[in-house]
Amino acid sequence: MQAARMKHILAAAIVGLLFVNLYAQEKPASQQSAQSSNRFSSSRRDQWQKPDEVIKAISLRPGQVVVDIGAGDGYFTRRFAAAVAPDGRAIGVDIDPSSIRSLMADAKRWGLPNYEARLVPADDPMLAPQSVDVVFLCDTYHEIESRVEYFSRVKKALRKGGKLVVVDFVKDKDNPKHSIEKEAVIEELRQAGYKLAREFDFLLPRQFFLEFELATDK
Ligand SMILES: C[S@@+](CC[C@H](N)C(=O)[O-])C[C@H]1O[C@@H](n2cnc3c(N)ncnc32)[C@H](O)[C@@H]1O
Repeated sequence: MQAARMKHILAAAIVGLLFVNLYAQEKPASQQSAQSSNRFSSSRRDQWQKPDEVIKAISLRPGQVVVDIGAGDGYFTRRFAAAVAPDGRAIGVDIDPSSIRSLMADAKRWGLPNYEARLVPADDPMLAPQSVDVVFLCDTYHEIESRVEYFSRVKKALRKGGKLVVVDFVKDKDNPKHSIEKEAVIEELRQAGYKLAREFDFLLPRQFFLEFELATDK
């Protein structure tokens, strides 16, 4: 009995370590040193996350409004703010108050006045109707519950021609809680009123990158 319990605890610890290791930090260099206390930002992550390629693939334009759902410590939000400056806005939303504090500090650190942080409930990102050009989620889609309802709400916030970008971990049987089948994402978002517009494979085999548009654009 005791041995079975120990086995269970060990297995849980291994899964936890795997997840932490996904974002493991190495000693940050140059301008990244200011981020060393952040959970999700590291130069090691840059190697596999390829943030510049992600930004390029989304084709952001100055003046656009981007919402980063589950923004964490702002790994992508800060890059969005820079890409849409000076008139566009990047809004990082999260359910975790400590993430909001990190995002606010990050905006200050990078001197980006068009970078906002908002604490939101888990079932609604609280976006105004037709106020957003791009909604982006990295490694957060799988965390959201009742996704068809959630993304039906998000849909109302998208402007004409708006897009929803989902980057997430490819389903991994060793880390099932923090990964998802891309087919499930496509089907859930179809039910919520979106259609797959483009797919990029440069983050594979670790992550998929899917871009959706409204099934019926207004
Ligand atoms: C794995 S982290 C990813 C952070 C960031 N997107 C990145 O790529 O560095 C997931 C984040 O999603 C947030 N989160 C989880 N469920 C959420 C929800 N329903 N709405 C908004 N944020 C959520 C968590 O608090 C956490 O900050």
